[in-house]
Amino acid sequence: MQETIEKTKAMVKHLGAVNVILKKNNNDPSRLIPILQEVQEVYKYLSKDVISYVATSLDIPVAHVYGVATFYAHFSLSPKGKHIVRLCDGTACHVKKSHDLLDCVCKKLALTEEKKTTDDLMFTLEQVSCLGACGLAPVIVIDDIVHGQATPAQVEELLDGIIAREKSEAQAAQ
Ligand code: FES
Repeated sequence: MQETIEKTKAMVKHLGAVNVILKKNNNDPSRLIPILQEVQEVYKYLSKDVISYVATSLDIPVAHVYGVATFYAHFSLSPKGKHIVRLCDGTACHVKKSHDLLDCVCKKLALTEEKKTTDDLMFTLEQVSCLGACGLAPVIVIDDIVHGQATPAQVEELLDGIIAREKSEAQAAQ
């Protein structure tokens, strides 16, 4: 019984931010997309729990919320890392050896074609077909900062910098 109460308390706390977002949007089902966008901003992805909770709160079928969440590529149903690495593999970047950058990122972060997020949820790798900066090929975007004419050495240095920053922040917090 106590365990159930604790679990429920944890769930209510976990979903607190969803309540705020729902309230801000007047629990209006026609605002489902902006609601999901805001929820994803907070949780970084849309979990089963969150999808069910949003559906119940808006009094719409869970399948409908799933339908919207899976239709738009912007939404993610699995956890994403704190740092997003977007690597272009469009024609211009491919010709300029973007696959060397891909190999570098995968090796550095122990990622693969199937495994796109690191176990510590620090990094997620996304491959995109064009970032609209073909003149700068090969292009990689790390946390919304565009790096053109990137080389594996530069990418490794950028990732090392983030890893070092994260480590020192974690140590400072202890
Ligand atoms: S093909 Fe890579 S930015 Fe366009």
